[in-house]
Amino acid sequence: MSEVGIERIGFATPGLYMDMKDLARRRGIDPDKYTVGIGQSEQSVAPSSQDAVTLAAAAAKDALEGESLEGLDMILLGTESAVDASRAAAVYVKELLGLPDAVRCVEVKQACYGATAALFWALDYVSRRKDRKVLVIGSDVARYGLNTPGEVTQGAGAVSMLVSYDPKILAIEDDSVFMTAEVADFWRPLYSNCALVNGRYSTQIYLEFFSKLWERYKQKTGKGAKDFEAFLFHLPFAKMGLKALKEVLKEADDATFARLSKRFETSAAYSRRVGNIYSGSLYLSLLSLLEGQAMEPGSRIALFSYGSGAEAELFSATLKEGYLSRLYPERHLKMIEGRKRVTVDEYEHLFSDFPTSSPQDYACDKKYFSGPFRLVGVKDQQRMYEADE
Ligand code: CAA
Repeated sequence: MSEVGIERIGFATPGLYMDMKDLARRRGIDPDKYTVGIGQSEQSVAPSSQDAVTLAAAAAKDALEGESLEGLDMILLGTESAVDASRAAAVYVKELLGLPDAVRCVEVKQACYGATAALFWALDYVSRRKDRKVLVIGSDVARYGLNTPGEVTQGAGAVSMLVSYDPKILAIEDDSVFMTAEVADFWRPLYSNCALVNGRYSTQIYLEFFSKLWERYKQKTGKGAKDFEAFLFHLPFAKMGLKALKEVLKEADDATFARLSKRFETSAAYSRRVGNIYSGSLYLSLLSLLEGQAMEPGSRIALFSYGSGAEAELFSATLKEGYLSRLYPERHLKMIEGRKRVTVDEYEHLFSDFPTSSPQDYACDKKYFSGPFRLVGVKDQQRMYEADE
């Protein structure tokens, strides 16, 4: 039987983080609200030299290392922190990676759902072209603003997935259910570099979409909670996924309850430390699960993608024989562990040092240059990127 899915997974996050207890104390809030009530312990902090492009390029480099580039036809980049209203961020990524020009480069937007749309486009593409590959990336810097309720749910990072026929990690099943409705839960006006959000309403919509799709999925496939080894969620913050999982756990026997609860914790481990990475978030949960706990080949995993505004999709995937040999857990843990801790003062300074939307030139602070790719500045209204030699 022909299978399409994920061949390799890459990850990138900025080299700086803030401890959520530090932020809670500064904001006069009980740290338990952030670490337990919301479920976030740390948050990656992006200096202005790290944006959706540089993080995407770093995640792409991570996934492509040691891979043959033969057959790579497309880069599809899901992002809601676009750096240009016209040019796709994927074009910059291709250039930073030094790829040949015979590669299509497109940006996909629908809030945190963008990378999932890109993934399904890629799956269709490779299902008709057995020797071709597509690189799908979700890359974002999540910004709500200083001293806002959303501040604790910020973050930054990118996940990349090499999509192919006969994949080595995960086969994606053709069983998805999806839905869209215009909802004002979260959006970002073009003038703003921060999102606007009706916070508690957004959590309610997320849960409503999940419940509806879970019912539709069960009707469509005849499957139930016991058929899954794990449930993965878009994680704007860890507690959000847990709230959705409870819908499934209501129907679970004791063994299923224990299994899904434990696997959820493993899947949320990276997100608790990195924060919301918007379009890559669901796939960071996937990476966290696969790198945090060995599972039997053939295990079925459910994935719930949600993008405000709002659109959602629920689908399943099965683990391939030998998938562990295609993962790099030490490298990714080192990336997270190796970040430098910043104080709240430093974070506030970095947050406010954002390339302006005016025509003026802008220079990024070299003190915070890190990672294989960086934005150097904006000159004559053009973004200037550089890569390590
Ligand atoms: N100790 C332990 N827990 C505590 C506590 C304490 N001292 N104080 C409060 N809590 C708990 C509360 O009981 C609550 O738990 P439950 O939700 O389980 O009841 C939790 O902490 C949060 O408390 P509040 O609801 O009072 O928090 P808040 O109003 O300050 O805001 C938020 C929370 C709405 C998530 C806000 O951070 C926000 O707006 N975030 C951005 C929007 C967002 O992430 N939405 C998610 C769905 S939309 C989406 O998924 C797309 C996307 O990526 C944005």
